[in-house]
Amino acid sequence: MTPVISPGLSRRIGDARAIVAFTGAGVSAESGVPTFRGTDGIWSKLKPEELASMNAFMKNPSMVWEWYAHRKKIMSGIAPNPGHFALARMEKLAPSFAVITQNIDGLHRRAGSRTVYELHGNIERNYCMKCGTPYGDDFVVAANGVPLCPACGGLVRPDVVWFGETLPEDEWDASVRAAEGADLFMSIGTSAVVYPAASLPLVAKRSGAYLLEINPEPTPLTAQADEYLQGASGVFLPLLAGAMEAARRLPHSHR
Ligand code: OAD
Repeated sequence: MTPVISPGLSRRIGDARAIVAFTGAGVSAESGVPTFRGTDGIWSKLKPEELASMNAFMKNPSMVWEWYAHRKKIMSGIAPNPGHFALARMEKLAPSFAVITQNIDGLHRRAGSRTVYELHGNIERNYCMKCGTPYGDDFVVAANGVPLCPACGGLVRPDVVWFGETLPEDEWDASVRAAEGADLFMSIGTSAVVYPAASLPLVAKRSGAYLLEINPEPTPLTAQADEYLQGASGVFLPLLAGAMEAARRLPHSHR
């Protein structure tokens, strides 16, 4: 069946004043980044608590760094897909538009999105756990193993949120404010099971937003969604961006 956007949704996206796109690993799947859950997901083969936690890092920093070096390599060889580009197009048209992402791959910014809240950090950044000095990937690659801070000798770690850690406060506060102020909130390519991020669609809905979900598979959020588009973000987001562009070209009386 050819995917379509209903006239009602086209009107809604054309009229929305404040739009939030809440994204997860599924949005980057079409760029070649593996998702976490599902039969082929990363967490079906590896245990998160053995790789993505402070405990794991303190126990075996070289194993954790090996894994992140592998992920950094995947991320450096990828490019944004039509879903990322569609969100950047939408931002240009809406009076207020924010991307809240759980992804650490930086693809939203690379596609041109400007207001992006990265709730789980960014794999391109690193910092010293002891003195906080930030380091880029060139430094980490040159270290070829566990990078140590030249300033203080502390362990350098990737700037991503690990299990059991709190989210970056500024990004979280801005995300909650955006969710509370949204009139259209889109939950896209996320299994919506990792909290506190997964509470944002519900915050938005409670505050009066229309909740739209895009995902090939239903999630625990689907029953709460006002509308569910079953399919890939790289298919539906360009359709939504097109609908938004068409609606905003036409005066209200012609819609
Ligand atoms: P998941 O792997 O849990 O979920 C990915 C979702 O994307 C699934 O619901 C898929 O059905 C959907 N999906 C797959 N292909 C898609 C496509 N082409 N278009 C749209 N959707 C598609 O990933 P997240 O929900 O992002 O946390 O996971 C949340 C967090 O769990 C991650 O940020 C990470 C992980 O542990 C940390 O690292 C802290």
